[in-house]
Amino acid sequence: MKKVSKLALAAATVAALGAVTTTCFAEGASTKIGIAMPTQSLERWNRDGSYLQKQFEAAGYEVELTYSDNETDQQVNDIQNMISDGVNMLVIAAIDGESLNTVLEEASAANIPVISYDRLIKSDAVSYYVSFDNYTVGKLQGEYVRDTLDLDNAGDKTYNIEFTAGDPADNNAGYFFNGAYDVLSPYIEAGTLVVPSGQTDFDSVATPAWSTDTAMERMQNILASYYADGTVLDVALCSNDSTALGVAQAIESDYAGDNSILVTGQDGDEANLANVVDGKQSMTVYKAVANEAVVTLDLAKAMLDGTTVDESLIEASGWEFDCSYDTTSYETSEGHACPSFLLVPDVVTKDNMVEKLVDTGYYTQDADGYLHPAE
Ligand code: BGC
Repeated sequence: MKKVSKLALAAATVAALGAVTTTCFAEGASTKIGIAMPTQSLERWNRDGSYLQKQFEAAGYEVELTYSDNETDQQVNDIQNMISDGVNMLVIAAIDGESLNTVLEEASAANIPVISYDRLIKSDAVSYYVSFDNYTVGKLQGEYVRDTLDLDNAGDKTYNIEFTAGDPADNNAGYFFNGAYDVLSPYIEAGTLVVPSGQTDFDSVATPAWSTDTAMERMQNILASYYADGTVLDVALCSNDSTALGVAQAIESDYAGDNSILVTGQDGDEANLANVVDGKQSMTVYKAVANEAVVTLDLAKAMLDGTTVDESLIEASGWEFDCSYDTTSYETSEGHACPSFLLVPDVVTKDNMVEKLVDTGYYTQDADGYLHPAE
């Protein structure tokens, strides 16, 4: 592989300037992109990995794609190998951002620029962050609950709710939870929403590794401890689809009441969309990861070409979807703003799933009404 000139990019300085000019890379097939995804066991990352690989290869780049089985040590090794293989850029969706600090210093020493993909790694070695507006994901879940139950007009009526959040090692998880909690906490304070388990802080409701089984077992325990006497569960606020799947399983196996519980989610995983069709999950917040890959490719191209990267990339790229350039919301551990491209999430329910997911070409629908990711 032909070596190309490298990018020397100090994210700290560039963040302060708000716009970034990079030095030039040679173009095309000799330029190699290392893509590190967390795991194939959580559905969405298979889609992300595949979209990223296809799009970078179609643009003429070589791609090295790794999945690290949700093991932080393995992801460090995988990234070290890509650095040794001479990749010209790294695109990383971290399992645990903090565990990557040292390997990212190695990338930085080798002048390999890093795009933090979907989950922020709070290191100054990261040049840019590409994601969805994570706080809004949670906000949409909270608003769905508020509006569906018409909490503003509940009067004396009360509803029982339980929360299930994501992996504490994932920087996104707190944003999702806070987005939802900020919408719902006024109703908890007013007594309209009641949390029988009393578990309302992130640490109590978090789900390590976003595990379906862990979410299921925790909900089974909650149901046994607080609902076995016939107490009605009205809402299971789940941060994403892998946890919602476990919570729905627990409700099915361990809850005696009728199954009209509002269950939220995120991602549009195949099994969860089936649950939406079957009425076992009420909504999912859909994030078009194909578009997240498009933004990543265009950003990488601009960086490799030595083009100035700022909000002008949005217009120059002609994307047909909404994306904002944000230099204030996300910070590295050193307190420097990480310039971010943030896409817009959307609510999908049984009523709009064909319009949002099938008509747009992301999924196909079979004769029984179930959705399957389009090839
Ligand atoms: C992603 C979510 C996903 C979760 C578990 C988060 O970082 O943003 O889309 O559900 O990880 O895979």
